[in-house]
Amino acid sequence: MEIREKSGNYCLKFYLHGTRLASGFVRNIKQAMVSLIQPVISFWNSSIGKKILVALSGAFLVFFLIGHLAGNLLVFTGRGALNDYAQFLHEMGHGKGVWIFRIGLLVALVLHIAATVALTRQNRSAKGSQYAHNATMRASRSSKIMIWSGLIVLAFLVFHIFHFTIRVNPELADMADPAQPERHDVWGMVIKGFENPLVSLFYIVALTLLCSHLSHGIASMFQTLGLRTGKTKDASKIIGIALAVALWLGFISIPVAVMTGLLKADSSGYSDTKASVIEAQIAKQ
Ligand code: HEM
Repeated sequence: MEIREKSGNYCLKFYLHGTRLASGFVRNIKQAMVSLIQPVISFWNSSIGKKILVALSGAFLVFFLIGHLAGNLLVFTGRGALNDYAQFLHEMGHGKGVWIFRIGLLVALVLHIAATVALTRQNRSAKGSQYAHNATMRASRSSKIMIWSGLIVLAFLVFHIFHFTIRVNPELADMADPAQPERHDVWGMVIKGFENPLVSLFYIVALTLLCSHLSHGIASMFQTLGLRTGKTKDASKIIGIALAVALWLGFISIPVAVMTGLLKADSSGYSDTKASVIEAQIAKQ
């Protein structure tokens, strides 16, 4: 009887000790999570934190634009070069590379927009203060331009992805490279796409707004990241404008070249569908 009572006590003690250990463990995990998340929340809540996020995500998007332009300019060197480049992008890392890159791009875009919206709201609620009134009035004019140009660039981006990535127009989707019919003819698609003057005009207008957005944005990015001091103030403004104008000239050169006939389909044409190219190859054999 005594032995049974003793062993019952041991079991109870063991159980209580176990639950105490488990709840201590859960409490430690909770504390660790809070101490990990708290700095992120404080960073997001602070105005400078959001500005840094806008600047860093903006820098990432500018690097993307520089790379995208460099790739697109291959259109002037001929079908083979642009299609090789597009094929490489789609096949890098066994097809996973392009998706990793797309996710990175989407995260940067979402962060850029979310932090801008939150900053604008924060600035609006601070607007009531008399002291900040004049500065806010001046700042709000340029941020209004930034918001509108940003929204139109966003609309352009959605159109552009449906145009050249998803290819909703079957005429553009079903183009085969005559030399390698199993791959898409990106070169032909770009030229055919810009042969529509309305599409080219829309691109030129959107790219001009992108240039205005970038020239403002790059200068404020330098300021946020502490790269704009008294000495480098003028230089940072010039770099912002020069980079925006270079991107603008590079991008619009493509629709302009197609509209003026400087860039046109070569002797192999571009309107071959995948099926017709394969049929012609079979007929040749
Ligand atoms: C004349 C100007 C431009 C041309 C000719 C052009 C051309 C292209 C082409 C051909 C593709 C599809 C590539 C493929 O799937 O093989 C593409 C995709 C894309 N472009 Fe552009 N682009 C231009 C301007 C821009 C601008 C200004 C932006 C950003 C504001 C941009 C952002 C993108 C994005 C995000 C994709 C999707 C990338 C992916 O995930 O596949 N493009 N572009």
